[in-house]
Amino acid sequence: MAKTKTAYVCNNCGGQSPQWAGQCASCGAWNSLTETVLARVGGARVAGLTGDAAVRVQGLDETQAERIRRLPTGMSELDRVLGGGLVAGSVVLIGGDPGIGKSTLLTQAIAAIAARAKTLYVSGEESADQITLRAQRLGLAGSAVGLLTENQVEVIVTAAAAERPQVMVIDSIQTMFTDTLQSAPGSVAQVRESAAQFVRHAKRSGTALFLVGHVTKEGTLAGPRVLEHMVDTVLYFEGDASSTFRILRAIKNRFGAVNEIGVFAMTEAGLREVGNPSAMFLSRQGDSVAGSVVLATQEGTRPLLVEVQALVDQSHLSNPRRVCVGLDTNRLAMLLAVLHRHGGVVTYDQDVFVNVVGGVRIAETAADLAVLAATVSSLRNRPLGKDLVVFGEVGLAGEVRPVQRGQDRIREAAKLGFKRVMLPAANMPKATEHEVELIPVRRLADALSALA
Ligand code: TYD
Ligand code: MG
Repeated sequence: MAKTKTAYVCNNCGGQSPQWAGQCASCGAWNSLTETVLARVGGARVAGLTGDAAVRVQGLDETQAERIRRLPTGMSELDRVLGGGLVAGSVVLIGGDPGIGKSTLLTQAIAAIAARAKTLYVSGEESADQITLRAQRLGLAGSAVGLLTENQVEVIVTAAAAERPQVMVIDSIQTMFTDTLQSAPGSVAQVRESAAQFVRHAKRSGTALFLVGHVTKEGTLAGPRVLEHMVDTVLYFEGDASSTFRILRAIKNRFGAVNEIGVFAMTEAGLREVGNPSAMFLSRQGDSVAGSVVLATQEGTRPLLVEVQALVDQSHLSNPRRVCVGLDTNRLAMLLAVLHRHGGVVTYDQDVFVNVVGGVRIAETAADLAVLAATVSSLRNRPLGKDLVVFGEVGLAGEVRPVQRGQDRIREAAKLGFKRVMLPAANMPKATEHEVELIPVRRLADALSALA
């Protein structure tokens, strides 16, 4: 086989150089050259096409969408995030911090799939003994999963072509290397090229492929981000390593909805699926305390109740601290400004800490009203009561704006036994079918007086 040609290409300007250099000769950028395989242009394929018309353009109405077959993974939370099961020939990237449970999740999933389809688990990190030990711990040692411990892409692709598995796992992409490049495994160039070869194999053979990617702290090591555009689905596995909750979140999905989440709990015997996450994230023991409120948030198609806590404490710093865990800190600074300007509540001499309980991360603006309610409750040292749920976006003019799927949020609150829901007036349902008292608010000032 002829050796593939590689060159060092500048990430900044696209300039090429035959050797690595610290500075790009074309644009002068530092440390921007990465080794890249050069595409072979011309050659036999194109020449062979000129004779007969081998290329045919297809009409959109000719292709059959219903041909997409989905293979259930046997874990309903994983299926939910994938959009209803695994699609043949699709490539799913699972990213997450080391030790979060990616290998555990995929071991459980592939063992469940093995009952119905041919599988191959390729590990570049662990020995076959280690994998077997984990499987024993998970009570899955008897399942018919094919195992391969190998790091070289070409060897794996050859083995997969011979074995013809329907589902394959590569754990992890950072440990894989291809012969075509000289750079070390884990470098951007290696990760990108190895993944490209796996993706090509998956598309050609119709194998559903899971790629595991560690999110690394150093920028020098390639994280899963460089792969996001190559794959069909990107899932991130997140959660506090210290807490048992794990959330699998779809960031990109060509076969389903994004922002869908699956909730798991890490136990002694592996990951357990959590069908009713709201009940899990709420710790409703003891009395109601100041600075705590329950937020009805929406994750994908699923409403989720989580507790938002705030602590407001007198500051001795010239720049009082604003710290958020699970929320956006800039948004908190903005909300505090709105609180001052439109609610007359002063926090510029106070440190403000806001935390979402259970390691959940909330990106939607519907959390605004809950953040402010918790802040004001802590500042006034007045509990809001344990039967209250809050949601709504707060605008810069002090108005409370509607959010999507208000009905679902109310229904979830009612289902879990809450008695009062504070919501944007524009989200008021026409008819109430629920046993809850609804408190509509139009402006921040209305909310503050309702909470007083
Ligand atoms: P692992 O799947 O190896 O993480 P990753 O592949 O993302 O690096 O998970 C490792 C952690 O999970 C480890 O700290 C131990 C814990 N764990 C359990 O708590 N219970 C179990 O049954 C298993 C298999 C692992
Ligand atoms: Mg692992």
